[in-house]
Amino acid sequence: MSDLFKPFTLKSVTLRNRIVAAPMCMYSAADGVVGEWHRAHLAQLAAGGAGLVTVEMTAVSPEGRITWADNGLWNDAQAQSLKPAVDAIRAAGAVPGIQLGHAGRKASSNRPWEGDNQIADDATHGWPVIGPSALAFGSEKVWKVPSEMTMDDIARVQGDFVAAARRARDAGFEWLELHFAHGFLAHSFLSPYSNRRADGYGGSFDNRTRFIRETFAAVREVWPQNLPLSVRLGVIEYDDRDEETLAESIALIKLLKQDGLDFVSVSVGFSTPDATIPWHAPAFMAPVVERVRHETGVPTAIAWGVGDPVLAEHAVHSGQADLVKIGRALLANPHWPYTAAVALGVKAASWATLPAPYAFWLEHHQPKPVDEAVEA
Ligand code: NDP
Ligand code: FNR
Repeated sequence: MSDLFKPFTLKSVTLRNRIVAAPMCMYSAADGVVGEWHRAHLAQLAAGGAGLVTVEMTAVSPEGRITWADNGLWNDAQAQSLKPAVDAIRAAGAVPGIQLGHAGRKASSNRPWEGDNQIADDATHGWPVIGPSALAFGSEKVWKVPSEMTMDDIARVQGDFVAAARRARDAGFEWLELHFAHGFLAHSFLSPYSNRRADGYGGSFDNRTRFIRETFAAVREVWPQNLPLSVRLGVIEYDDRDEETLAESIALIKLLKQDGLDFVSVSVGFSTPDATIPWHAPAFMAPVVERVRHETGVPTAIAWGVGDPVLAEHAVHSGQADLVKIGRALLANPHWPYTAAVALGVKAASWATLPAPYAFWLEHHQPKPVDEAVEA
């Protein structure tokens, strides 16, 4: 029996398996409003068999978008536009989740396929960026210097997270993930690469975690107690401070757990262009995810390079992670869960993963392997 295909229950939500369609920015919204592209994209991920389908990083405010075409949830029209996608995900048997974030100093960028560069404040599609300190991500020739956030800015963005969480709740999402990773705003408060503040939000561990802890606690107040509240946390940079960063991240997760954290999606910090990320090692985050899970007691998801079914199965079976986040493998093949079930020898793999109008035909008229067909 495959552990990857066992159901997973957290609070009042049960996923049919351990496969999560990772949040993946489509950069295809208009003024933060999604349309037919998102409905079709998310519906096909759900029909492909994932247990949880996570809508991509959705900005809590206009200046929090990575690009001008990001999803948003700072107004009711945006919330309304997500409802058909929520319904489509649920109708296909998956649980609808969403990730909320603010891009901070990495905002105001071109779409990846249009250059990926940051856009000048006064150019079309550009706007000024904000962060904990006036520090650019990389060379100032390429990266914008954010303006240091005032106390009012901090309170406003935290309020934006709360308002967006309310809208996500009202739109019918059942799993909320706060994006506290990838060098975006919340994570940039945690990281010494981006935070050099001298006030209560910078310096010590207590101070650098304050923005995250306050934002999390405020969202917990409005997000239903019976539904999972997760964070995606960048717990390691792959630089020369890995042990320290990981120990701090684990300490932070333990504090968030006391405040009602249900789940942690473990990821990379992406706070510096000088990191040496072991991209080419399969499932390179496995030892880190396992350590977070065991030291915090909080259920975890693994991501990055786990698109091989055997690796995904191993991650769950060996107790490294509770859930497996699949990214690019699902862009290549939205039916990856079905393919994985076949590869892992799951009985009646079609019925275990696909809707009946697909499963019936695949289970009963499965083409024979070529050598068997030739012999017949
Ligand atoms: P970049 O996409 O700019 O990548 C940083 C460095 O890592 C670059 O040298 C890049 O190589 C390399 N790299 C990134 N992904 C891979 C990979 N899968 N395999 C090998 N090398 C890789 O960094 P960002 O901080 O913008 O994004 C970090 C990661 O998060 C990326 O993998 C990106 O795809 C993903 N992402 C996250 C989003 C989010 O959290 N909202 C949104 C979109 C993407 P190169 O220069 O050759 O690309
Ligand atoms: C991503 N990723 C990402 N991560 C995140 O936390 N929020 C996001 O919105 C996005 N957007 C995004 C867009 C695209 C096109 C890609 C490819 C990736 C990262 C993603 O969630 C996931 O962690 C990785 O893609 C997992 O690695 P694999 O499975 O692609 O190796």
